[in-house]
Amino acid sequence: MAEKFTKGMARNIYYGGSFFFLLLLLGLTVDTVRQLPERSRSENITPEVAHGKELWETNNCIGCHSLMGEGAYYAPELANVFDRRGVGNEEAFKGYMQSWLAAQPMDNPRRRKMPQFNLTQEEVDALAEFLIWTSRIDDNDWPPNVEG
Ligand code: HEC
Repeated sequence: MAEKFTKGMARNIYYGGSFFFLLLLLGLTVDTVRQLPERSRSENITPEVAHGKELWETNNCIGCHSLMGEGAYYAPELANVFDRRGVGNEEAFKGYMQSWLAAQPMDNPRRRKMPQFNLTQEEVDALAEFLIWTSRIDDNDWPPNVEG
């Protein structure tokens, strides 16, 4: 062991450390990407789910809502709205979505407003299918409670 801490040693720690953590980052990224199809149950992505996602994007729902914590915090989280309002029943949830979207905007000065999107019944069903699929993604139980 050298007595003095030389520039060469500092350089080795710098490059060696950077290289080590770069490899760790790459390894964890590959690991995550490999888990995605199973975690997201990608075999359940039907054309209706894909259509719902498209509607989710073109109507900018994420401009007010969050999905698994990502998005805006003006309106409730929706990755768990199926568990919250559908309590495991897909038909009940679709009914809830139809009546919720039809009732907007609600005339209540004490609550935040959601716009009227004038979507067809099929479009609302597709959005419901997308949110049902989203609620079943294995996201380490995020958000931590059903109201979150
Ligand atoms: C301009 C902001 C805004 C946009 C854009 C928006 N929402 Fe909302 N949404 C809200 C607000 C605010 C609430 C809560 C209203 C309340 O509690 O009275 C809400 C509530 C909801 C709920 C009920 C949540 C629950 O816990 O019962 C659903 C479902 C929903 N939105 C779906 C959507 C979908 C689907 C879209 C896109 C088509 C969308 N929202 C776009 C503001 C928005």
